[in-house]
Amino acid sequence: MRLLVVCLGNICRSPMGEGALRRRIAQSPLTGRVELDSAGTSDWHIGRAPDPRAIACARGHGVDIGGLKARQLLREDFDRFDLILCADQGNLEDARALAPAGAAHKAVLWLPWAGMPGEAVPDPYYGDGRDFEHSWALVDAAAQATVRRLSAAADSGIIGP
Ligand code: 4NP
Repeated sequence: MRLLVVCLGNICRSPMGEGALRRRIAQSPLTGRVELDSAGTSDWHIGRAPDPRAIACARGHGVDIGGLKARQLLREDFDRFDLILCADQGNLEDARALAPAGAAHKAVLWLPWAGMPGEAVPDPYYGDGRDFEHSWALVDAAAQATVRRLSAAADSGIIGP
């Protein structure tokens, strides 16, 4: 299973989501069976590390995302990944606009897909530390729900080794 987490800049929500998912997957029976990455729909921050506030927030929850580097979502990502988990509706629309024919369904809104209440992980970029904490809480809950959903699919044979 190959998962890509997507937001706008790839410096706040999606690197936090990638870090949260990496940790929750490592603690689960899915460990070693999931390939994971993140990307942004924009080219604004290509090559940069996550926002220092995102790094500090993740570190406060025991997850190191300091080594990640922002990159832009590519059309080829629809071939490389099984599921493209988008942080908000704008990200979903931008991602689907890039998709090759027949692949747009791979991009989903992460929270609803994971069975969480709400639609969007709010963008903390113009906010403060509390906004980053709120985004972390959402992506970490979504990461746990994602592991449960994928584990159930793996147990039922929908997903191979
Ligand atoms: P992200 O947050 O999409 O969660 O990485 C943002 C990062 C940067 C900007 C907007 C949102 N920006 O305007 O540069």
